[in-house]
Amino acid sequence: MSTLVVDDIGLLVTCEPSLGEGPLGLVRGAAVVIDGDRVAAIERAGAAADERLDAGGRCVIPGFVDSHTHLVFAGDRADEFAARMAGRPYATSGIRVTTEATRAASEDELRALARDRRAEATRAGITHLEVKSGYGLETEAERRLCAVAAELTDDVTFLGAHAVPPEYEGRADDYVELVCGEMLDACRPYARWIDVFCEDGAFDADQSRAVLEAGRAAGLGLRVHGNQLGFGPGVRLAVELGAASVDHCTYLADDDVAALAASDTVATFLPATDFSTRQPYPDARRAIDAGVRVAIATNCNPGSSYTTSMAFCIALAVRDLRMTPEEALLAATRGGADALRREDVGRLVPGARADAVLLDCPSYTHLVYRPGVPLVHTTVIAGSAQSL
Ligand code: NIG
Repeated sequence: MSTLVVDDIGLLVTCEPSLGEGPLGLVRGAAVVIDGDRVAAIERAGAAADERLDAGGRCVIPGFVDSHTHLVFAGDRADEFAARMAGRPYATSGIRVTTEATRAASEDELRALARDRRAEATRAGITHLEVKSGYGLETEAERRLCAVAAELTDDVTFLGAHAVPPEYEGRADDYVELVCGEMLDACRPYARWIDVFCEDGAFDADQSRAVLEAGRAAGLGLRVHGNQLGFGPGVRLAVELGAASVDHCTYLADDDVAALAASDTVATFLPATDFSTRQPYPDARRAIDAGVRVAIATNCNPGSSYTTSMAFCIALAVRDLRMTPEEALLAATRGGADALRREDVGRLVPGARADAVLLDCPSYTHLVYRPGVPLVHTTVIAGSAQSL
């Protein structure tokens, strides 16, 4: 196998404290030795190699792990966004607008749109991502969304329980039965996870429990959208059922924080969503100080958060969720991996997948200090530098 060395790294962030200084495991003047698609070693700059990628003194971080995206959809909701900026509140009914456009698109169109978004995410330094279905809301439409998602990642999430479609208006329990039966059977072969939007205006606690238990019985891991638009049962249900992650967590009661802190469930914050919906920001400081495991993700979707910029999410996490730059970077890398229960991504350690980002700046703090500036110089995925 040929060896690639990412050499002359000014500041290497390993996200493994035992490999270097502080919680980020910082190493100065380092080289990352890559064998095939894996990290083989962290060495001093100047290591021998078949091939060399000169970092030119830049800061190198593990690639971002985006543990919450809805990349497969058609249509555009810019008008809805503009109306929100003029004062209209965010409403879950927008999901139906995207569902209509997505149902009308061909599988090839959906594939092309999703691939373009994946390429955009690569340019933003995202080296691994989770992709949800959820804009089909009928069996064949959900199946093809899962199939397209499976071409992009091995972390596909079946989210048939994203909203009640118009043809089931007033019959949410019947729709839940469809999700837990025929739709789950059709999507199961492509998916690793099942998710449910547990919120007023979507699915209540009993319906959410039914979806999650059916998914678990089919062998899927559990994820929950919860506590996005108000206080509610999502977080506690996620913890009770041992979900890998509960996402949004904008409204956390004291009981929610205590339950999360005593669990393995990761609280995934989606700060670009709170930005784009003019919601209050979650209090990540309170959760972290209580011992909750946290991640941040982009939640790229056409309604509540149309961004692939993890750097933007990191900037918001520091500025508005009161994380330190170190906590935010960890949440966007190792935290995302934890939320997906993976150890092979989110860290630059021997044996991990060789996913790294060369930043055009001397320190990761610039991700926050220089908001809106595209600082990704090179994205390396599985040992291969991507053309950006
Ligand atoms: O995670 N909260 C539910 N689902 C998406 C938004 C979907 C939409 O508005 O299209 C989210 O924010």
